[in-house]
Amino acid sequence: MASDNTEIKYFCDILHDRADKAVEKYGCGTAVYDYHEILDDPELDAVSVCTHNDFHSIISIDFMRHGKDVLCEKPAARILSEALEMEKISYETGRSLSIGVCNRYANSVNRIKKMIADGMLGEIYHVYASFRAYRSIPGLGGDFTTKAVSGGETLIDWGVHYLDLIMYCLNDPKVLSCDGEAFCKLGKDMKNYITTSILSLSSFLRSKMTLSLIFLSGTAMQRQNKRPKS
Ligand SMILES: NC(=O)c1ccc[n+]([C@@H]2O[C@H](COP(=O)([O-])OP(=O)(O)OC[C@H]3O[C@@H](n4cnc5c(N)ncnc54)[C@H](O)[C@@H]3O)[C@@H](O)[C@H]2O)c1
Repeated sequence: MASDNTEIKYFCDILHDRADKAVEKYGCGTAVYDYHEILDDPELDAVSVCTHNDFHSIISIDFMRHGKDVLCEKPAARILSEALEMEKISYETGRSLSIGVCNRYANSVNRIKKMIADGMLGEIYHVYASFRAYRSIPGLGGDFTTKAVSGGETLIDWGVHYLDLIMYCLNDPKVLSCDGEAFCKLGKDMKNYITTSILSLSSFLRSKMTLSLIFLSGTAMQRQNKRPKS
């Protein structure tokens, strides 16, 4: 947390304990429990918004309107209109708004981007990304699996990273049309599972190019009850 250029002034969380623990852990800053209290602090230049998705746009917009630059966690927001509003306020206020698509900074990603730009992979006409998680799946009823809070399923949680990387590596191709489908077929027997399963498929077209994304979150290893002894 130490930096010559930056000083952390506050850790804010509505769960008091979490804010307090962050101050203790990092040995800096003050704990606050309501972000409205610090909106007008003239010493505050920038904020990192890392709440659940439903508060991304609200908090980011409030801070930009109070003259602060914002780094907001991915996904930018739950729905397009929220994200567009964030973008609009960023232009209106002149504050910088950055979304935490951190994988863009990976050397491997930038190597691929350069290979594509240098023509080493030829003409790109199809991209397929597939992701499967069988562990570390957010628990049922939590913020990541409650649609009103998260705005979606696997595609909005993990998917935004892959979608962003593809668009980034391909230099933001113009999207002409887009379609997709999200399924929730696995782990329907909620009684015995602590997580849900989602398969999302999204594809879209840019002239002759098709992108396909498939995400599958499995639950096979997430049973609450212990495996019977054989
Ligand atoms: N960039 C990445 O690779 C990456 C990785 C992990 C998580 N994330 C994103 O970060 C966000 C948080 O994820 P997490 O796993 O840390 O969740 P988390 O539940 O551990 O932390 C979120 C915290 O926000 C607090 N909070 C909620 N509303 C608040 C409010 N109005 N004011 C202040 N605090 C509030 C909650 O009390 C909670 O402590 C999500 O949007 C997630 O998608 C991004």
